[in-house]
Amino acid sequence: MKIDVLLGLQWGDEGKGKIVDVLTPNYDVVARFQGGPNAGHSLVFNDIKHVLHTIPSGIFHPDKLNIIGNGVVIDPIIFKKEIEGIEKISGKITNLLISKKAHIITPTHRILDAASEKSKGKSKIGSTLKGIGPTYMDKTGRYGLRIGDIISGEFEKKYQEIKERHLRLIANHDLEYDLAEYEAGFFEAVESLKQFKFINSEYEIDDLVKKNQKILAEGAQGTLLDIDFGSYPFVTSSNTITGGACIGLGIAPSKIGEVHGIFKAYCTRVGSGPFPTELFDEDGETIRKVGHEFGATTGRPRRCGWMDLVALKYVVMINGITKLIMTKADVLDGFENIKIATAYKVNGVETDRFECDANAEIEPVYKTFPGWKEDISQITSYEDLPENLKKYIQFIEQEVGVEIAIVSVGADRNQTIIR
Ligand code: GDP
Ligand code: IMO
Ligand code: MG
Repeated sequence: MKIDVLLGLQWGDEGKGKIVDVLTPNYDVVARFQGGPNAGHSLVFNDIKHVLHTIPSGIFHPDKLNIIGNGVVIDPIIFKKEIEGIEKISGKITNLLISKKAHIITPTHRILDAASEKSKGKSKIGSTLKGIGPTYMDKTGRYGLRIGDIISGEFEKKYQEIKERHLRLIANHDLEYDLAEYEAGFFEAVESLKQFKFINSEYEIDDLVKKNQKILAEGAQGTLLDIDFGSYPFVTSSNTITGGACIGLGIAPSKIGEVHGIFKAYCTRVGSGPFPTELFDEDGETIRKVGHEFGATTGRPRRCGWMDLVALKYVVMINGITKLIMTKADVLDGFENIKIATAYKVNGVETDRFECDANAEIEPVYKTFPGWKEDISQITSYEDLPENLKKYIQFIEQEVGVEIAIVSVGADRNQTIIR
């Protein structure tokens, strides 16, 4: 049995949480492979909206197993709150396993994140300030603290060593902070992690595959935030692409099956960095308002713009996407015209290759489509969608060469058209 992957194709917030929740009934296991509480994955069902940060989006299906892989970074304090929030809705969690190799975000990682952003001044990344960058830096620097360390008997000693090293680094920065505030509840939260089974996700997943269990690997962030292939340095600190699923769970590349790539019918970005199709006019404002484009983790307004086909072709290539999922098509209801960038002019020269050099002058070349006036949010079959939306979808499919298998027309589980 092959393992399927679902990941974001833009700058995050494409609706991964919603679609993983919708697809979970088709799987036995959902496994997160990278990122940490920088993610905010929203699920809406039975009139409840719930935002997950570290926990896989299959968690509200009690008969499905959820795994947090080695590629994820966990903040025990945020994790504990997340568990408490879920248990209020659906009772005691008994279907969650955590990799021993996942790294721990400590309070001083968060302070280091703030110090780093402050020192960058105007060229700051616009990080979520969850300590993601410093934690992955400690992982690759071979200083990190891992989930397995919690039960090693050496946790407090290792924690103190890391903290002291961090405090020396922070002392080089001009930053006021209250360590006690950051540390409050940390050890209690670490203790509460012990209620979950710590595993080696590589063996666990191999055993599950041998038992013919169907696994969906869930990504966080999006391809354009990938540490290698995104708009560096305005990216996150992990590999968000399909290859990241192999590394972040311990899966051989030959075991990967379908790769579901999810994108919004337009683009958004939160934080700094290049965004060729960004809108600064009324259309951008309308998308933000109608689409409620405010961060699920930080509440920041998201930057909004038209669909970017140059970027979409690039991310389909990098990820080997086999199925596309378009979300938030309903947000474009009522627009007179809809635009899509089919090429870039980079420093005046036209190209169909993605360019994310922060210093390049990028001007999108647009194709304009007539909009539709209908409210599509209650439509349940593809055939009933407005002709102009179908034309927009067909154009994207033709250009990219991959079918759009799911069209999402609202935030609720039920507002999903599966072709
Ligand atoms: P994720 O990080 O990829 O899981 O996405 P987020 O949850 O951060 O952001 C997506 C937002 O759009 C959330 O508020 C969802 O509830 C909402 N959403 C998801 N799909 C749709 C859709 O098709 N239409 C509308 N209007 N909202 C959607
Ligand atoms: P989900 O999984 C949108 C952005 C931040 C910042 C950059 C680096 O909900 O799609 P970091 O805290 O990772 O060091 O920040 O990446 N970013 C996201 N943007 N959705 C996310 O996650 C994001 N996670 C990080 O805004 O620009
Ligand atoms: Mg999000």
